[in-house]
Parts: sequence; structure tokens; C-alpha cells
Amino acid sequence: MTSLSPLRSPTSTRALRPQGPLLAMAVAAAVVALLTGMGCGEKLDPVQHVDAAGPEVTWCADIAPFVSGSCLQCHSATLSGPDRNGAPVGVNFDTYEDASRLANAMQERIGAGTMPPDGPLPEADRATFSAWVAQGRPEGTCP
Ligand code: HEC
Repeated sequence: MTSLSPLRSPTSTRALRPQGPLLAMAVAAAVVALLTGMGCGEKLDPVQHVDAAGPEVTWCADIAPFVSGSCLQCHSATLSGPDRNGAPVGVNFDTYEDASRLANAMQERIGAGTMPPDGPLPEADRATFSAWVAQGRPEGTCP
């Protein structure tokens, strides 16, 4: 992408304003290029690459809430036999320790959209999970 026009100095907002539509077009072109590139037989890396420098993501505040809503109806140590809905025995995400240990496998399946089985998590949750892994899986403080 060499056609992206360089941004003016962020201090000169008046100079920036007329570029708004141009910038929007450049972004749209980048998105189209990205999507087109994806269609060219290139395999998507299932692991989303996220800058680890964003706001801190913790197990307690950000991950546990959607994991408990989206994974624990099968992947819970409290479930056995048919109640696990086929989830492998021992693959449980009830606690920080277990989820942290299994985070790479979770990331793989969440990123690929193959878990939960009934469809990928919302994009925001998938990005949050990637950021958590990228940041080294902070625990935070659970209530
Ligand atoms: C409706 C039940 C159900 C839900 C909900 C569910 N899973 Fe699963 N999970 C399974 C089953 C069944 C398997 C085994 C078959 C397979 O690997 O696809 C599995 C396998 C896995 C595996 C591979 C384990 C291994 O050792 O091979 C991972 C990782 C995983 N799930 C993560 C998740 C995550 C993360 C969530 C929530 C975002 C989730 N699952 C939600 C049923 C479920």
C-alpha cells in the first residue's frame, strides 16, 4: 500500500479536515485490499495478532465474564458425563489457573471461530481474548 497519503501534522487540525474524505477512502481501499488478499488462497492465521500495548485486559474483569457465559456450560469442572456435551474431560475454564494454562488452545479455537460450537464469539470478545494472551494473561482481582 504505497498510495496512502501521509497524515499531516496532528497539530494542524485545519489542514487535516479537508483530508477527511480522502482518508476515509484510503482506509476503505486498505480494507478492500485486505479482504481481496484474504480471498487469494492465503490461509488466515487463526491467532489474531493484537498489540499488547493496549489497555490492560485481566481475567477477572474482562475474560471470565464471557468465558463463563460462553464456555462453562460444557467446559466446567462441575460437569461430568453427558452434561459436558462432549467437551473433553479435564478441559475446563472455571478458574484463572486452568484458563491460563489452556489459554493457547482457547485462543486457537476462539480465533478460528470453532469454539463455542454454535458459532464464533462476537468480534469484541475475540479481540479481548487475543489482547489478554498478548499481555501475558494478567489475573487482575476477582471480587
Ligand atoms: C456446547 C458445548 C461447548 C461449548 C459451549 C464450548 N465448547 Fe469447547 N469443546 C466442546 C466439544 C464437544 C469439544 C471436543 C470437540 C472439538 O474439539 O471440537 C470441545 C473442544 C474444545 C477445545 C479443544 C480441547 C482439546 O484438548 O482438544 C478447546 C480449546 C475448547 N473447546 C475451547 C472452548 C472455548 C474457549 C469455549 C468458549 C468460548 C468453548 N470451548 C465452548 C464443546 C463446547
